[in-house]
Amino acid sequence: MENVIVTRGLTKVFGANGNAVYALRGIELEVARGEFVALVGPSGSGKSTLMAIIGCLDSPSAGTYALDGEPVERLSGAALARIRNEKVGFVFQTYNLLPRATVSRNVELPMLYAGIGRKQRRTRALELLEKVGIPEKADRLPSELSGGQRQRVAIARALANSPALLLADEPTGALDSKTGAEVLGLFQQLNRQGHTVLLVTHDPKIAALASRRVELYDGLVLAPEPRAA
Ligand SMILES: Nc1ncnc2c1ncn2[C@@H]1O[C@H](COP(=O)(O)OP(=O)(O)OP(=O)(O)O)[C@@H](O)[C@H]1O
Ligand SMILES: [Mg+2]
Repeated sequence: MENVIVTRGLTKVFGANGNAVYALRGIELEVARGEFVALVGPSGSGKSTLMAIIGCLDSPSAGTYALDGEPVERLSGAALARIRNEKVGFVFQTYNLLPRATVSRNVELPMLYAGIGRKQRRTRALELLEKVGIPEKADRLPSELSGGQRQRVAIARALANSPALLLADEPTGALDSKTGAEVLGLFQQLNRQGHTVLLVTHDPKIAALASRRVELYDGLVLAPEPRAA
């Protein structure tokens, strides 16, 4: 399967009747395996709404969505959660780590949901922490880590079940510019290793590092810019 993401006429409406908000108005998007796509657009254009549907956190009001070749637009509840845990790794601006669980336990969590045994979870978590550059933090609590280190834990957790797709919504938004650049470098490295990345950003410098830019405006994808000569 070549495309990790294929959407057709993807629509999302919040509310009903008089106060309906059309957050997405017919998104046509294809992302091929191995791409690094930056999703940009003004505040309120629908970026987070689209990421939630692409990440199987929410379902569309209309339209179709195939994730890694599987139609998922009609799934909800447990079925949607299962495919999310199997196929998507999510990285949020605010890390979303469990504060009372160690770094290793945080990384192990998606593997726990997937039914992987304790020893194997621990081994894989240590490998992933090595990959993101903080193997020595395995038994620390998130509160003992810097912002950049916490985001590295979140990235390791996102990779736990070898997802088809890595999604990140403003992953450097809470970091200073130097730390943000380091975390971004990690996304680039993961992309070079074959991971498909879709990343929301307001920062044109970050968007420039991606292999392709997709621009949303008022719930629609704008036509791609012509390439510079
Ligand atoms: N749960 C919700 N209920 C009602 N309206 C919503 C909901 N979530 C989003 N919206 C509306 O949908 C539109 C798109 O919101 P979304 O959060 O996707 O924008 P965004 O591009 O991520 O913006 P930002 O750059 O500020 O994060 C906005 O008009 C927003 O008010
Ligand atoms: Mg948003």
